[in-house]
Amino acid sequence: MSDVDLDVHRSTEDVIEALREDVREGLSAARKWLPSKWFYDARGSELFERITELPEYYPTRSEREVLRREAPEIAAVTGARTLVELGSGSSEKTRLLLDALGAHGTLEEFVPLDVSEAALAEAADAIARDYPALTVRGVVGDFTEHLGLLPGERPRIVAFLGGTIGNFLPTDRAKFLRSVRDVLAEGEWLLLGTDLVKDAGTLVRAYDDAQGVTAEFNRNVLRVLNERLGADFDPAAFEHVSHWDAENEWIEMRLRARAGTRVHIPGAGMEVTFAAGEYVRTEISAKFRPEGVRAELADAGLAVERWWTDAKGLFGVSLSRAVA
Ligand code: SAH
Ligand code: AVI
Repeated sequence: MSDVDLDVHRSTEDVIEALREDVREGLSAARKWLPSKWFYDARGSELFERITELPEYYPTRSEREVLRREAPEIAAVTGARTLVELGSGSSEKTRLLLDALGAHGTLEEFVPLDVSEAALAEAADAIARDYPALTVRGVVGDFTEHLGLLPGERPRIVAFLGGTIGNFLPTDRAKFLRSVRDVLAEGEWLLLGTDLVKDAGTLVRAYDDAQGVTAEFNRNVLRVLNERLGADFDPAAFEHVSHWDAENEWIEMRLRARAGTRVHIPGAGMEVTFAAGEYVRTEISAKFRPEGVRAELADAGLAVERWWTDAKGLFGVSLSRAVA
């Protein structure tokens, strides 16, 4: 239980129904796939936090470096009274923004939104404890569906950090950016973290660490299907794959069947057959170029006012303003 009141947008039954639909669609496709949001039960969120500390996984460190350096500027430029964070997870880096906006004297409310109730409750409690003057309103929801009524006094800044924007397919990404623009009033702000294109080796290693934490994170989606839909996946029967798709400029995470196998998923009313070597795409993580970020934001009605990277140029953070 959380000490902070959470707005919960969906019942457990609704969540199971959404999972059932995604599983039916994704696992009956000619090229099997699953949406990456299903990684994040309590265990998945914990595994993600461990990923952020791995030597190979540079995005979190790089984005934190930018936020540490630029948070005072972000506070001065935006003068935000409300900070909304989408896909907030632990909100650990977000504290840099809370500190700077607090020091600037404008911040009143923090609204973290995440599908992972466990991660959200823990983060909201910790922040409410450490920032007693702040109103913290956590929202358990899906940022592709529940942006409609973002609370908070204006001006608001919406933070979407970590490079999670890269986990959308390009058409969904455009739709999502437009939906963010639509809930903002003209002059309000989006702070967006985007991982940048770089050499394939660095990218592949970031998604295939030596300790195997990312592999466990990847296989966690099978455990989620076992728990919530009564499936009988043997996670160990699937090999973790980190593949750089140079044409699309994204990392694709896959789970590849080591041998031919049949899986029962009673909660989705399905049986699924895997040939040896057949894989499920479990995530894409698109990598960006600065000019591409600028163009996609402009298409959505968001004008980039600031663009920063870490010293090594691995990760980009943009601050854009909603325009007519
Ligand atoms: N922003 C944090 C966490 C990134 S991990 C960081 O930068 O470290 C991605 C987060 O997005 C997870 O906490 C996951 O639960 C959440 N998430 C993934 N898909 C989501 C969706 N469709 N709606 C809401 N939250 C989602
Ligand atoms: C949340 N998201 C930005 C992470 C990423 O890098 O695409 C998820 C992740 N997948 C494997 N490692 C981390």
